[in-house]
Amino acid sequence: MKKKIIVKNLTKKFGDKVVLDNISFEVYENEVFVLMGGSGSGKSTTIKHIIGLLKPTSGQIIIDGVDITKLKKSELMEFRKKMGYLFQEGALFDSLKVWENVGFYYLENTKMPKKEIYLLAQKKLALVGLKGIEELYPSQLSGGMKKRVALARAIATDPQIVLYDEPSSGLDPVTTAVIDELILSLKRRLGVTSIVVTHDLQSAFYIADRIAMIHKGRIHAIGTPEEIKNNPDPVVQQFINRKPVGPITEDFIKNLENLDEIESKEHI
Ligand SMILES: Nc1ncnc2c1ncn2[C@@H]1O[C@H](COP(=O)(O)OP(=O)(O)O)[C@@H](O)[C@H]1O
Ligand SMILES: [Mg+2]
Repeated sequence: MKKKIIVKNLTKKFGDKVVLDNISFEVYENEVFVLMGGSGSGKSTTIKHIIGLLKPTSGQIIIDGVDITKLKKSELMEFRKKMGYLFQEGALFDSLKVWENVGFYYLENTKMPKKEIYLLAQKKLALVGLKGIEELYPSQLSGGMKKRVALARAIATDPQIVLYDEPSSGLDPVTTAVIDELILSLKRRLGVTSIVVTHDLQSAFYIADRIAMIHKGRIHAIGTPEEIKNNPDPVVQQFINRKPVGPITEDFIKNLENLDEIESKEHI
């Protein structure tokens, strides 16, 4: 299997804070690779490095054999065409119509006639199961539709790689299932390689070829859904069994104990 994305000894500090601590993993071509972990564990930071929005403090990001951390800005822009990115916040432009959102890359960066861009947007919208909403504005759409429009935009340039940051957060279970099927259909029909950040266990186990578990900026486990289920690491077990107490909530529990202590002192 061809290695499409290699993350090698990636460390990221914001000031003194180490957010990613020497993480390494590989994603194979045409794989759905799921990144799971608690809030603040470093998931979004990881995928922002892969799309080149953040520069590592140290380490390499190698995509199709190219270390993207070494690229000049213009080279990176060109390179990014092969990647689609679904932002955690969806991030549609409210002042642009749906078709303009989907065709944004072409409107901004090419001289393609508007009519063609409109048709292209229409096709991409059809791929995510949307029709007849080209002329609407984002404010006129439901949450699930917005996510799908954002997905249509993410795949507008026919990317070989799509990165999804919590594609189903805030969506109902049925819309979540629709998004899962879209991710799988892009893999099967277009051969896309995907990295999906999600805390939705059901989705993760359904769509993933492999899952990586990240905690406090470190990878704790990587494996197939079956391997992850059987992985004895306490972080993995707390996460997949949804236990309130464990390493993921260590700080939270400590703070609660401190609170108890403060309160008991107040009562003296
Ligand atoms: N630009 C930034 N500046 C400082 N700290 C940041 C920045 N971006 C993220 N962080 C911190 O890095 C940690 C990981 O964030 P993130 O990758 O967004 O986590 P998540 O796993 O929830 O996506 C958090 O503690 C967050 O506060
Ligand atoms: Mg995040």
